[in-house]
Amino acid sequence: MTTYTLRNASPAKTKADVVIVGVTKGDKGPSVAAGGEDVGAAYARKFRPLLAIIGFTGKAGETAKVPTSGTINAPLMVLVGLGDAKQLTPAVVRRAAGSAARSVSNAASVALALPADSAELVRAVTEGFLLGGYTFTDFKRDTKPQSEKSSEVVVLSPVARQGEASAAFDRAQLVVEAATATRDWVNLPANALNPVTFADQVVAQHKELTKGKGAPEIGIQVWDEDDLAKDGCGGILAVGGGSATPPRMVKLTWSPEGATQHVALVGKGITYDSGGYTIKPPASMVSMKEDMAGAASVIQALFLIARLNLPVKVTAWAPMAENMISGAAMRPGDVLTMRGGTTVEMTNADAEGRLILADALVMATEEKPDAIVDIATLTGAMVVALGEKVAGLMGTDDVVADLRVAADVAGEAVWPMPLPDEMHERVRSSKVADLAQSDWVRWGGGLFAGAFLREFTDGLPWGHLDIAGPGYNTGGAHGYMAPGGTGFGVATLVEYVAGLADLT
Ligand code: BES
Ligand code: MN
Ligand code: ZN
Repeated sequence: MTTYTLRNASPAKTKADVVIVGVTKGDKGPSVAAGGEDVGAAYARKFRPLLAIIGFTGKAGETAKVPTSGTINAPLMVLVGLGDAKQLTPAVVRRAAGSAARSVSNAASVALALPADSAELVRAVTEGFLLGGYTFTDFKRDTKPQSEKSSEVVVLSPVARQGEASAAFDRAQLVVEAATATRDWVNLPANALNPVTFADQVVAQHKELTKGKGAPEIGIQVWDEDDLAKDGCGGILAVGGGSATPPRMVKLTWSPEGATQHVALVGKGITYDSGGYTIKPPASMVSMKEDMAGAASVIQALFLIARLNLPVKVTAWAPMAENMISGAAMRPGDVLTMRGGTTVEMTNADAEGRLILADALVMATEEKPDAIVDIATLTGAMVVALGEKVAGLMGTDDVVADLRVAADVAGEAVWPMPLPDEMHERVRSSKVADLAQSDWVRWGGGLFAGAFLREFTDGLPWGHLDIAGPGYNTGGAHGYMAPGGTGFGVATLVEYVAGLADLT
């Protein structure tokens, strides 16, 4: 068990194993950042020479461990660079707190003395530190799960006693729990998480969350392969047809009394993407357990929205399938009939995400929500366009604008991409079916996918997040990111719904 407290106290006098202090880079060299002033004062004129002797510059992400030898109460100080003193944004502080977390992994008690003089910064420090401490050790024989370690985290803040700051602190911990649960699901390899066990785990978590007095009421419905057939979900069935494990769809409903708005969230849940008969090259296949990150994020976002008791009706739709090869797998050239009757000429078995999303989007639109947001590790083309850390955002102007604001508050990078008329024509270019699933033109592949999804939104306000890049960290740890699942999108979706709640 880890305990978390927000406190207004002097970092020099705080009793903890470690105190974390920020260092910024300025015109006159590095200096102690806001929040760590008392520590700087305890060192007095020895602080700068200390930085100089260990070669600490204050560059963002830089860390150093310094034994304090009685200068302050904590025996160890961890310095973390915050970069340019004039650009101290919440995003910078969030990343630095994450870097610091990774260098104190053994400490039982930690006090954070980073810039935290606003609710926004309290949130950034807390989220960054807690996410930065994440590790995935389910399959490491000799590593204890983190939940069994006991520790204490104290976030020091001059505004600790203000309601807004303590609310931000509590909220940050819940956001981290949701993002962590998302990371855990994404990190489970495909032999440990298939469509059936994924759906089972959602059912189990739902049961846990809704049990007992005062627990939120959340509806749940699971479609098995027969239900999907009865409901005409030809996309999900075709994609899941090649797997030894049948597909599923999970719907969660949060419907608080008095809600005047309804948002539908739809997430891609491919537990493994081999590419099917349009098989992927070997190296591209290795990380494809990540292909259910969208589904994981909409489920965890809905759970969190319910825990926060946000006054907006939210439904989460998670189509789940494994894209494999067998005698029952879909063949390029097949014509599929989607939920609602639209036919699609399937020409690329590796463009499977849009097929399962189409059925789920149609189901979502049938309830006439006020807005739909889908999130999916959808296209490599979006990674080529925006890199691995920025999500592509498409959709109708209103939802796109709201999602940009939400992502900004949440500290997640998204960038708007267009849906040009040309794509509309390409999506309608099939000679045998209503729509073409793909046309084998590489250019603008992320936009083609967006335009394809739009066909299934019934003209409703809609946003589409392509998280093929930021949903999964293929590199090493950096900032508050661990290797593997990132939990990207959860915070943005929750912030988006919270933003709508503010308007009611
Ligand atoms: N799951 C992939 C997209 C992806 C790529 C996610 C890299 C994460 C990292 C998706 O199903 C896919 O294979 N997309 C194809 C689309 C193409 C066939 C039109 C792609 O990007 O190559
Ligand atoms: Mn694919
Ligand atoms: Zn995929």
